[in-house]
Amino acid sequence: MKNYSVFKKLDVSLPCVDAKRLIHGRGGKIEGFEQINIEIYSQVLWVIVYQSVDEQPLYDMLSLAKENMEKWGVDHIYIQRRFEKGNPVEVYAGTDEWVDNEFETQENHLNYLVNLGRNQNTGLFLDMVNGRKWLQDNSRKQSVLNLFSYTCSLGVSAAAGGANQIVNIDMAKGAVKKGQQNFALNDVNGVFIAQDIFKMIKKLTLKGPFDILVADPPSFQSKAFDVRKDYKKLLTKLKSALAHDATLMLCLNSPALDTQFIHDMVDEVYEGKATFIKRLENPEVLADVNEEASLKVMLYKLS
Ligand SMILES: C[S@@+](CC[C@H](N)C(=O)[O-])C[C@H]1O[C@@H](n2cnc3c(N)ncnc32)[C@H](O)[C@@H]1O
Repeated sequence: MKNYSVFKKLDVSLPCVDAKRLIHGRGGKIEGFEQINIEIYSQVLWVIVYQSVDEQPLYDMLSLAKENMEKWGVDHIYIQRRFEKGNPVEVYAGTDEWVDNEFETQENHLNYLVNLGRNQNTGLFLDMVNGRKWLQDNSRKQSVLNLFSYTCSLGVSAAAGGANQIVNIDMAKGAVKKGQQNFALNDVNGVFIAQDIFKMIKKLTLKGPFDILVADPPSFQSKAFDVRKDYKKLLTKLKSALAHDATLMLCLNSPALDTQFIHDMVDEVYEGKATFIKRLENPEVLADVNEEASLKVMLYKLS
């Protein structure tokens, strides 16, 4: 049967406690699934179809999946179609109990609120798992500035790793509120600012100096951020908010821009005073035909 390999991948990965990307068809390496990702959030198998494609390979695979739900600890299978207006969700198996109904999920012993439904994003970007892990392992006694924090999952990880101070900032009020709830859920403390970062640079500088800068901007958001011109501007303006030996975690999720874009930007802004440490590896499941197009999480150390 075509795409039996997808079923087999699910079968070896499930059941699992942590929320996870299980199938990354968008990496271009799985025939018939080039526009499909599959994730698990607690008891829900979450299928995302990005473009209108022949869905027969998916349905063939799901008919097998349905027979294995109990063994996998899956109660519901939902399909979100991103190419249709309003991102409608089909309940393929189970009930609609968790559609647009927030619930808690887990990753690395931390808890996060997610909402599977009309929102394009669930509240937790699963491809960033290694970024969260790195912060959890490296934030002890550090002061962390988390820019473009969204629902503050990177901040939660830093806090769980023993950071002294975490300042989270994002212009989306709802996301920041969710971030506060995520912090409370994990019994950790942080500072939350719901504002355009560019309007807050002075205030952020007063809260510094920060030992770790996390920046995970959108590639392009109308009237808010254009990575090609604003990333460099932002880093330049933030220089005085950072400790002289700060660590930078600079993220880029634009397929059109490669790691060299970040190297060049850092060289220009820090004029040779930033040493490249490494690019954090993406989880194996995120393998892409072009690794330069996939998520880039780059670490640098200032001196
Ligand atoms: C890719 S998401 C960040 C994901 C987050 N770091 C995580 O791992 O969950 C990008 C975020 O940037 C925010 N954003 C875009 N432009 C902004 C700006 N100028 N000031 C503040 N937030 C901005 C958006 O509201 C969005 O939540």
